[in-house]
Amino acid sequence: MKPSRHFTAMAIKPRTVLTVIGARPQFIKAAVVSPVLRQSAREVLVHTGQHYDAALSGNFFHELKMPKPDYELAVGSASHAVQTARMLLALEPVMSREHPDVVVVYGDTNSTLAGALTAAQKGIPVAHVEAGLRSFNRAMPEEINRVMTDHLAARLYCPTPSAVANLAREGITRGVRLTGDVMDVAVRMMVRDADVPGRYQVRPGGYAVATVHRQENTDDRTRLAAILQGLGSLPWPVLLPLHPRTRRRMAEWGLAAGDAVRLLDPLGYGDMLSLAGAAGAVLTDSGGLQREACALGVPTYVLRDETEWVELVQEGRAVLVGAQAERIRSAVTAGTARPRVESLDRDPVGLMVADLVQE
Ligand code: UD1
Repeated sequence: MKPSRHFTAMAIKPRTVLTVIGARPQFIKAAVVSPVLRQSAREVLVHTGQHYDAALSGNFFHELKMPKPDYELAVGSASHAVQTARMLLALEPVMSREHPDVVVVYGDTNSTLAGALTAAQKGIPVAHVEAGLRSFNRAMPEEINRVMTDHLAARLYCPTPSAVANLAREGITRGVRLTGDVMDVAVRMMVRDADVPGRYQVRPGGYAVATVHRQENTDDRTRLAAILQGLGSLPWPVLLPLHPRTRRRMAEWGLAAGDAVRLLDPLGYGDMLSLAGAAGAVLTDSGGLQREACALGVPTYVLRDETEWVELVQEGRAVLVGAQAERIRSAVTAGTARPRVESLDRDPVGLMVADLVQE
């Protein structure tokens, strides 16, 4: 049967997908998803401006060859409530103007929650990438953002089986898909430069890379001091690229890290992966770096008391060391993490995009 003209016109009209990003890890994920999405949908890219420093924002767009955002909301830094409120105010007119069929949000930042809430209040379906993750620690702003976003979302793309189970426990089963982790794809796509350790005067396997940026660590003097002490007690030189907030707190509290710890400015994504991939160990409180280091087969130590990436800990690829100097030193020195490179048995980006372009 020949399709009616009306049907043909409907079928060829691409869906409008509005993507909200704002912080460093979201640029990385969108850089992987957007090119595929744009083959079959019209994407409107909105940057809230949560991260605005060149080292955290502009450089990433350049390095990841990302399209320029269609909207830059420039909300900047503020308390969680004020920052989120500014985003809501700025996002509403954008969504009214663009009439998206679906709004995509990534992860667990304030930009994620603001994107989801604005869309849900306007009756626009929300798609959440990295749905279902739980640390079960409501003191973390990210945990609140995750829970709220999942309860607002119509399409929930889960990176792990435990994420699917977490949603089911909260009564969410509709629209849930186990896609796998987009970060796994990003790590595999990025070409790593073997010369990077040499540029930092370290030998492959003979150094550690660390990052500390979570509010629970940076805004607690005892925890931050203990982490720095732990890093300083490792048998290797430690490269510590600093989030601007961590640098400010260390100055404010007069905290130093010892001679073996080298403080660096935030790194680009390629350099970070190259350094992490050749390191003897990675120590981090970042959700992204935790998974990247594990995907690269590097022993990974998590500077937190719990993680939402439970599979990595259950499999022994990552070890929770919290913020205690002696625990950090002994776990890393004894090499308690058991790295393993896994093959990717799913196509997270393909699965997500196929779902997004469907009514
Ligand atoms: C945010 C996310 C966190 C994510 C991280 C990725 C929330 C609640 N947290 O944390 O989940 O892991 O991004 O990096 O959304 N600052 C700058 N320059 C910038 C941006 C921030 O100096 O470009 C400083 C400001 O002092 C700001 C502080 O960092 O107040 C915190 O920034 P914010 O975006 O609120 O949270 P992050 O710690 O970056």
